[in-house]
Amino acid sequence: MSSKLKLGVIGTGNIFRGAHLPVWLGHSEVEIVALCDVAMDKAQAIANQHGISHVYNDYKEMLANEQLDIVDICTSNAYHAQAAICAIEAGAHVLCEKPDATNSADAEAMAAASIRHDRILMAIRNNRFTSTSSFLRKYVDAGHMGDIYTGRCGWIRRRGIPGKGGWFTTKELSGGGPLIDLGVHFIDLAMWLMGNPKPVAVSGATYCKFAESSLSDSIHSQFGEKNSEGTFDVEDLATGFVRFDNGATLQIEFSWASNIEEEMNFLELRGTKAGFSLRNGDAKLFTEIEETLCMVVPQLKKQADFGHASQINHFIDVVRKRSQPIVTPEQGVDMIKLLAGIYESARLGREIQLT
Ligand SMILES: NC(=O)c1ccc[n+]([C@@H]2O[C@H](COP(=O)([O-])OP(=O)(O)OC[C@H]3O[C@@H](n4cnc5c(N)ncnc54)[C@H](O)[C@@H]3O)[C@@H](O)[C@H]2O)c1
Repeated sequence: MSSKLKLGVIGTGNIFRGAHLPVWLGHSEVEIVALCDVAMDKAQAIANQHGISHVYNDYKEMLANEQLDIVDICTSNAYHAQAAICAIEAGAHVLCEKPDATNSADAEAMAAASIRHDRILMAIRNNRFTSTSSFLRKYVDAGHMGDIYTGRCGWIRRRGIPGKGGWFTTKELSGGGPLIDLGVHFIDLAMWLMGNPKPVAVSGATYCKFAESSLSDSIHSQFGEKNSEGTFDVEDLATGFVRFDNGATLQIEFSWASNIEEEMNFLELRGTKAGFSLRNGDAKLFTEIEETLCMVVPQLKKQADFGHASQINHFIDVVRKRSQPIVTPEQGVDMIKLLAGIYESARLGREIQLT
């Protein structure tokens, strides 16, 4: 491996430009050598701005021509698995945006490729990498929560459908609506803070009630390109219930559009010694002090991003063998199986066993 890691990027849309590119540009151990986007003009514009010499519209060509050490995948969801497997087979370590894949077979194939070729595969779980999440993890690891036995999490938007008619709302390209889009973030955070129990059974319901509505009063609808002639065949609300192998349970709720009082993301975990809530990034602890139930508000430094910079730095530490991965392919397989199970449960109207 050369002194600087050679990076190739697949997919140069919003999340790459906004959250990945600034970190890569500032990373002393990484050189961006090639960009690829099927919409080549997007990649070309970034390349021109930052003096990146090689631009492609076909990632297989990029992987064949460039000797890449690392590949960052930021395409729409349906292409993550194939791009990751091709990059791993070409010898690169892979960082891949969430969700890992749009179905369980693809998630398993990605994980298997990473083992077979001894390459790192890390999906983005940026919410684990905020200062608040790190604090909560330390609090849990120190045993202050006791036995964590149940929780609730969600990300509920009033009006925030990303790119209506574009890839986000087209199941073939996205794998689903807010459950796979937003659910990955907070179900993952819950499971990580619960100590990564194995999900064993799920139950869920999905609804699509806003496909025909023209209302769009949320900043979150800025994600994705709209297409008035396009498809909307995913849910706009999902609710569900997850059972884990250790007896713990998790209630979930994710919406892109819903007639509710307030938009928020949240996570509550309840343990035998304490509980906590995380609401729009602000944490509160609930515990007994001197036989009195108290609410403790940690005074944490606000951070500028949502964890991408810390996770990208961690990925490089893992590639350089300075750290063990915090996010593993096996956890990705569990996550995609869980989400697929909820969709299956919603379709069949009954609980689905995952193991
Ligand atoms: N972690 C987060 O907080 C977060 C936030 C937003 C989006 N995302 C994820 O990032 C990914 C991209 O989302 P986005 O909002 O940037 O979408 P986007 O549509 O803005 O960008 C996707 C880009 O990928 C390109 N692309 C699609 N298929 C390709 C292929 N086969 N080869 C090369 N390029 C291809 C598209 O032309 C587009 O430029 C999604 O998986 C999404 O779930 C993550």
